[in-house]
Amino acid sequence: MLPEDSLHATLADIAARIALEAGDLIRGLRESGVDVAATKSSLTDVVTAADRAAELLVTERLREARPHDGVLGEEGAQVVGTSGITWVVDPIDGTVNYLYGLPAYAVSIAATVEESAANENEASSKSGLMADGRRAVAGAVYLPVTGEMFSTYLGGGARLNGEQVKASDEVDLSVALVGTGFGYTTERRTEQAEVVRRLIPRVRDIRRMGSAAIDLCMVAAGRLDGYYERGLQPWDYAAAVLVAREAGATVLAREDDQLPGEAMIIAGPPQLARALQSELKEAYRELSNAAG
Ligand code: IPD
Ligand code: CA
Repeated sequence: MLPEDSLHATLADIAARIALEAGDLIRGLRESGVDVAATKSSLTDVVTAADRAAELLVTERLREARPHDGVLGEEGAQVVGTSGITWVVDPIDGTVNYLYGLPAYAVSIAATVEESAANENEASSKSGLMADGRRAVAGAVYLPVTGEMFSTYLGGGARLNGEQVKASDEVDLSVALVGTGFGYTTERRTEQAEVVRRLIPRVRDIRRMGSAAIDLCMVAAGRLDGYYERGLQPWDYAAAVLVAREAGATVLAREDDQLPGEAMIIAGPPQLARALQSELKEAYRELSNAAG
């Protein structure tokens, strides 16, 4: 094992250990009732006290384990580090599910580095880059209700509770089960509904699980063939994109000269991801033509 590999494996262990503790915390808080603490981008974009408590716990634990690293969290955590590693944290991905008592929510923790540092170990490929030019080198996504821990590090494969997982090998979009998600603003949702309307006759079916991190892990485990979404933030996908890639999935933007990220993330086995990309390009082309 190269020294970087063993560092990345250690970072993955740290991510998994802390995700487990935070996951237990939020599951416990859910059982004792949960309320909306505030809203963000729209009235339906909620944050609960549990999001905040879990982000605080994760930040504290990361500071104990890796005092020189930075931290960026969905609920506002922002620690500038000196080591070159920044942890990107979503304390609860799937907050609306959490609020309603639906099981599809997860803690997502990723260790990320600037692209140039990550590149020493991997042939240049945009597929694993985030829109801000950083790349996850290790991470974990933990689903506390099902007890499923997805963990990964660069070049180390993707694991579900310690067992290697593989993305599906489906190549035919017309029989593919495709996950997606919708943003919180009316404008964005209207556009996304239009795109789904065009896509649904061309695929087996669509799933809207309510957590982008889980969607990408489902692609990694072959429980979804493909996935796409527009409007994600780095904490939604930082860990799970690496899980999906390490499971053999390709992660693309809508255009090849863009980085996967807020504008679009498309994931799936290589051929299927390409087919999905061209359907989505076409859908957006029609949409902008219709808008004049
Ligand atoms: C959301 C979930 C959802 C996706 C939204 C995200 P949150 O994150 O990942 O599946 O469709 O775009 O904002 O608000 O539950 O942390
Ligand atoms: Ca999220």
